[in-house]
Amino acid sequence: MSIRRAHHCLLRRLRAARPSLASPASRGRSSSSVAAAAAAAAAPSPFAPAEPLPNSHPPLPPGTRVTIPTPDDWHLHLRDGAAMAAVAPHTALHFRRALIMPNLSPQPVTTVAAARAYRGRILAALATAADAAERAAARGDPGADPTAAARLRAFEPLMTLYLTDATPVSEVEAAAAAEAEPLGGGGGGAGGGGGGGTGGAASLRPARPLIAAFKLYPAGATTNSSQGVTGDLSRALPAMRAMADCGLPLCVHGEVTRAEVDVFDREAAFLRERLAPLLDSVPSLRVVLEHITTAEAAAFVLDRKDDGGGVAASVTPQHVLLNRNALLVGGVRPHAFCLPILKRERHRAAVLAAATLPAAEGGDRFFLGTDSAPHPRGAKETACGCAGVYSAPAALALYAAAFEQRGALADGRFAAFAGRNGAAFYGREANGGTVTLVRRKGEGDGWRVPDSYALGGDDVVVPMWAGQELAWRVEVDD
Ligand code: NCD
Ligand code: ZN
Repeated sequence: MSIRRAHHCLLRRLRAARPSLASPASRGRSSSSVAAAAAAAAAPSPFAPAEPLPNSHPPLPPGTRVTIPTPDDWHLHLRDGAAMAAVAPHTALHFRRALIMPNLSPQPVTTVAAARAYRGRILAALATAADAAERAAARGDPGADPTAAARLRAFEPLMTLYLTDATPVSEVEAAAAAEAEPLGGGGGGAGGGGGGGTGGAASLRPARPLIAAFKLYPAGATTNSSQGVTGDLSRALPAMRAMADCGLPLCVHGEVTRAEVDVFDREAAFLRERLAPLLDSVPSLRVVLEHITTAEAAAFVLDRKDDGGGVAASVTPQHVLLNRNALLVGGVRPHAFCLPILKRERHRAAVLAAATLPAAEGGDRFFLGTDSAPHPRGAKETACGCAGVYSAPAALALYAAAFEQRGALADGRFAAFAGRNGAAFYGREANGGTVTLVRRKGEGDGWRVPDSYALGGDDVVVPMWAGQELAWRVEVDD
């Protein structure tokens, strides 16, 4: 390409880039860095919302600090091998526990033995990361965090099993009885084991349960779900009755898969056609409707809020911050593609409204579950891209921004959502310790999310909000 033509292309790209897409961190720089800033602005952000969404509350003042109990992530994909070793520390640095999804490929985690081994691999990878963090701190490396190693060692993975048509009742009973090995490093692990919530069945659970829940994927609904439960779910009914008897919750990916149902309608159809009938036939089954995306899902949970606490929902950062315009307006943005897919604005608003309700109105049924789901960049930026948003590094700050929009950040509602509601549902104590969210003093003073992170081998993953500056940053207290 000639220099003149290259210059022309750059100019065209710069003209096409709207000012709102420029990285805020690049504003107000001296002329020497203008060229670099312009080049950065030319690359549209993978996560720019098409238009700013209406805020019902003004931003909190610069420098505001909001302290919450050390949070848990109740829906997390860590993958395995090198990718797992790369991403697990991002979660462990901010969260004390996470519910680890079982959809490994090619073989999902379907047995207690496989879950025990997977947990061991996660803890080993975190121990290696902790050793490296310790060495970096001892050397005084720039940017080394002296508290990181302790957090990496204190992180507790809570395991799930992948439900299939063939899951035997005996595996459910073994899962309910399985005890986890104590954390190796003695790093002040999370408080108390769990009884699995309310009811007499709780006494069947061990003091430190290895398996926190089963996960139901309708076969073919999402990434690595081909071995999930088929059709009307009836083949898995004996296993689900056993879960109810043992006090083991069932986490549900709530989407039908029938070709004639529009992808935007699949969650609402699942609630009507599958979940309501299931709860009619197994009313004592404790269910988490995962990563809810619609007003119908929020209403489904709220309608059952007085039914003894049996139905709850996890909520992701993307489903409270973005509507489907973020996926489609101004160009297709594959890094914002996840399942269930982003919905229209009224659904985003309804999910955020439900998650920010006071406890007395049912808000305690909603809790933080990032659904952080890393895929290599090449598997997203391709003709048939994978579903999954990688949110772990920025998740807390992103949720904070959403709660701030509703005036629900500093009054205890965010603390409940991130640090208490999920633990209570799963019959666990809230964590000791706190983290503090700090509002940036102004544009340019916040944390700029990296464009990508290493994902093992030559792969990289593009995180949620890549290249953009966040209004909040996380400080971990001791
Ligand atoms: C998840 C993944 O990549 O494993 N993807 C996603 O879009 N959420 C699977 C899932 O939770 O549906
Ligand atoms: Zn998921």
